Amino acid sequence: ASAFPVAKHLVETGHEVHAIMGARTKDLLLMEDQFRELLDEDHIHITTDDGSYGEQGVVTAPLERLLQDKAVSQVFCVGPVPMMKFSTLTAQKYDTPITASLNPIMVDGTGMCGGCRLTVGGETKFACVDGPDFDGHLVDFDSAMRRGAMYKAQERAAGERREEHCNLFKKEVK
Ligand code: FES
Repeated sequence: ASAFPVAKHLVETGHEVHAIMGARTKDLLLMEDQFRELLDEDHIHITTDDGSYGEQGVVTAPLERLLQDKAVSQVFCVGPVPMMKFSTLTAQKYDTPITASLNPIMVDGTGMCGGCRLTVGGETKFACVDGPDFDGHLVDFDSAMRRGAMYKAQERAAGERREEHCNLFKKEVK
Protein backbone atom coordinates (compact mmCIF):
# COMPACT_ATOMS: atom_id res chain seq x y z
CA ALA A 1 0.00 0.00 0.00
CA SER A 2 2.77 2.48 0.78
CA ALA A 3 4.18 2.04 -2.73
CA PHE A 4 1.00 3.45 -4.23
CA PRO A 5 1.41 7.13 -3.22
CA VAL A 6 5.07 6.92 -4.29
CA ALA A 7 4.06 5.58 -7.71
CA LYS A 8 1.24 8.13 -8.02
CA HIS A 9 3.54 11.04 -7.24
CA LEU A 10 6.12 9.82 -9.77
CA VAL A 11 3.47 9.41 -12.47
CA GLU A 12 2.08 12.86 -11.73
CA THR A 13 5.56 14.37 -12.03
CA GLY A 14 6.10 12.83 -15.46
CA HIS A 15 8.10 9.71 -14.68
CA GLU A 16 7.70 6.30 -16.26
CA VAL A 17 6.69 3.88 -13.51
CA HIS A 18 6.44 0.11 -13.47
CA ALA A 19 4.73 -1.71 -10.60
CA ILE A 20 5.80 -5.22 -9.68
CA MET A 21 3.37 -6.80 -7.27
CA GLY A 22 3.86 -10.20 -5.70
CA ALA A 23 1.94 -12.37 -3.28
CA ARG A 24 1.91 -15.96 -2.12
CA THR A 25 -1.42 -16.45 -3.85
CA LYS A 26 -3.96 -14.40 -5.83
CA ASP A 27 -6.24 -13.65 -2.86
CA LEU A 28 -3.40 -11.95 -0.98
CA LEU A 29 -2.58 -9.45 -3.71
CA LEU A 30 -3.10 -5.86 -2.58
CA MET A 31 -4.33 -2.76 -4.42
CA GLU A 32 -4.26 -4.19 -7.92
CA ASP A 33 -7.24 -2.08 -9.02
CA GLN A 34 -5.63 1.16 -7.86
CA PHE A 35 -2.38 0.38 -9.68
CA ARG A 36 -4.32 -0.59 -12.81
CA GLU A 37 -6.06 2.79 -12.75
CA LEU A 38 -2.70 4.54 -12.47
CA LEU A 39 -0.57 2.57 -14.93
CA ASP A 40 -0.86 1.03 -18.38
CA GLU A 41 -1.27 -2.73 -18.63
CA ASP A 42 2.29 -3.27 -19.85
CA HIS A 43 3.64 -1.40 -16.80
CA ILE A 44 2.08 -3.83 -14.32
CA HIS A 45 3.88 -7.06 -13.45
CA ILE A 46 2.26 -9.58 -11.15
CA THR A 47 3.77 -12.68 -9.61
CA THR A 48 2.34 -15.32 -7.29
CA ASP A 49 4.33 -18.02 -5.55
CA ASP A 50 1.74 -20.66 -6.41
CA GLY A 51 1.06 -19.45 -9.96
CA SER A 52 -2.63 -18.77 -9.19
CA TYR A 53 -2.33 -15.37 -10.91
CA GLY A 54 0.19 -13.64 -13.12
CA GLU A 55 3.62 -15.13 -13.50
CA GLN A 56 4.57 -17.98 -11.18
CA GLY A 57 7.54 -17.04 -9.06
CA VAL A 58 8.85 -14.08 -7.14
CA VAL A 59 9.14 -10.38 -7.88
CA THR A 60 12.87 -10.42 -8.51
CA ALA A 61 12.32 -12.13 -11.89
CA PRO A 62 10.37 -9.24 -13.49
CA LEU A 63 12.60 -6.78 -11.62
CA GLU A 64 15.69 -8.30 -13.20
CA ARG A 65 14.09 -8.21 -16.66
CA LEU A 66 13.26 -4.52 -16.26
CA LEU A 67 16.74 -3.72 -15.03
CA GLN A 68 18.18 -5.53 -18.06
CA ASP A 69 15.85 -3.86 -20.56
CA LYS A 70 15.59 -0.30 -19.28
CA ALA A 71 17.67 2.45 -17.79
CA VAL A 72 15.93 2.29 -14.41
CA SER A 73 16.89 5.25 -12.25
CA GLN A 74 15.32 4.15 -8.98
CA VAL A 75 13.68 1.11 -7.41
CA PHE A 76 11.36 1.34 -4.42
CA CYS A 77 10.48 -1.81 -2.52
CA VAL A 78 8.20 -2.53 0.40
CA GLY A 79 7.02 -5.82 1.84
CA PRO A 80 8.57 -8.86 3.48
CA VAL A 81 12.19 -8.35 4.50
CA PRO A 82 13.52 -11.36 2.51
CA MET A 83 11.87 -9.94 -0.64
CA MET A 84 13.50 -6.56 -0.01
CA LYS A 85 16.86 -8.23 0.59
CA PHE A 86 16.75 -10.09 -2.71
CA SER A 87 15.34 -7.10 -4.60
CA THR A 88 18.29 -5.10 -3.27
CA LEU A 89 20.76 -7.79 -4.35
CA THR A 90 19.15 -7.74 -7.81
CA ALA A 91 19.39 -3.94 -8.01
CA GLN A 92 22.99 -4.15 -6.85
CA LYS A 93 23.87 -6.29 -9.89
CA TYR A 94 22.79 -3.40 -12.13
CA ASP A 95 24.21 -0.66 -9.92
CA THR A 96 20.71 0.77 -9.49
CA PRO A 97 19.65 2.78 -6.43
CA ILE A 98 16.93 1.11 -4.37
CA THR A 99 14.89 2.45 -1.49
CA ALA A 100 13.63 -0.12 1.01
CA SER A 101 10.67 0.81 3.18
CA LEU A 102 11.20 -1.08 6.43
CA ASN A 103 8.34 -2.04 8.68
CA PRO A 104 9.73 -3.58 11.87
CA ILE A 105 7.57 -3.90 14.97
CA MET A 106 7.10 -0.47 16.50
CA VAL A 107 6.04 0.22 20.07
CA ASP A 108 6.29 3.91 20.98
CA GLY A 109 7.08 5.39 17.58
CA THR A 110 9.28 8.06 19.14
CA GLY A 111 12.78 6.57 18.97
CA MET A 112 12.75 5.75 22.71
CA CYS A 113 11.87 2.04 23.03
CA GLY A 114 14.30 0.64 20.48
CA GLY A 115 11.73 -1.85 19.19
CA CYS A 116 12.18 -0.83 15.56
CA ARG A 117 15.99 -0.79 15.69
CA LEU A 118 17.83 -1.52 12.43
CA THR A 119 21.42 -1.47 11.28
CA VAL A 120 21.89 0.79 8.27
CA GLY A 121 25.34 1.58 6.93
CA GLY A 122 26.84 0.07 10.09
CA GLU A 123 24.91 2.48 12.31
CA THR A 124 21.90 1.92 14.53
CA LYS A 125 18.78 3.54 13.14
CA PHE A 126 15.17 3.56 14.24
CA ALA A 127 12.59 2.99 11.52
CA CYS A 128 10.03 5.15 13.33
CA VAL A 129 12.06 8.35 13.41
CA ASP A 130 14.93 7.78 10.93
CA GLY A 131 12.87 5.94 8.31
CA PRO A 132 10.91 4.03 7.38
CA ASP A 133 12.60 4.48 4.00
CA PHE A 134 16.32 3.73 3.75
CA ASP A 135 18.93 3.20 1.07
CA GLY A 136 18.49 -0.54 0.50
CA HIS A 137 22.16 -1.02 -0.29
CA LEU A 138 23.04 0.03 3.27
CA VAL A 139 20.43 -2.00 5.17
CA ASP A 140 21.53 -5.07 7.13
CA PHE A 141 18.59 -7.22 6.06
CA ASP A 142 19.85 -10.35 7.83
CA SER A 143 19.74 -8.70 11.25
CA ALA A 144 16.34 -7.17 10.39
CA MET A 145 15.07 -10.69 9.59
CA ARG A 146 16.43 -12.06 12.88
CA ARG A 147 14.77 -9.28 14.86
CA GLY A 148 11.53 -9.69 12.90
CA ALA A 149 11.38 -13.35 13.90
CA MET A 150 11.63 -12.62 17.64
CA TYR A 151 7.88 -12.70 18.25
CA LYS A 152 6.98 -15.46 15.80
CA ALA A 153 5.85 -17.81 18.59
CA GLN A 154 3.47 -15.19 20.02
CA GLU A 155 2.18 -14.33 16.55
CA ARG A 156 1.49 -17.99 15.86
CA ALA A 157 -0.22 -18.38 19.23
CA ALA A 158 -2.44 -15.37 18.53
CA GLY A 159 -3.31 -16.83 15.12
CA GLU A 160 -6.48 -15.48 13.59
CA ARG A 161 -7.44 -13.79 16.87
CA ARG A 162 -4.54 -11.36 16.91
CA GLU A 163 -6.89 -8.35 16.76
CA GLU A 164 -8.04 -9.28 20.26
CA HIS A 165 -4.47 -8.82 21.49
CA CYS A 166 -3.87 -5.52 19.77
CA ASN A 167 -4.82 -2.42 21.75
CA LEU A 168 -5.28 -0.43 18.55
CA PHE A 169 -8.27 -2.55 17.59
CA LYS A 170 -9.87 -1.83 21.00
CA LYS A 171 -9.84 1.90 20.45
CA GLU A 172 -12.63 3.72 18.76
CA VAL A 173 -11.32 5.60 15.74
CA LYS A 174 -12.67 9.17 15.74
FE1 FES B 1 10.24 2.57 19.54
FE2 FES B 1 10.92 3.12 17.04
S1 FES B 1 9.08 2.29 17.76
S2 FES B 1 12.13 3.30 18.80
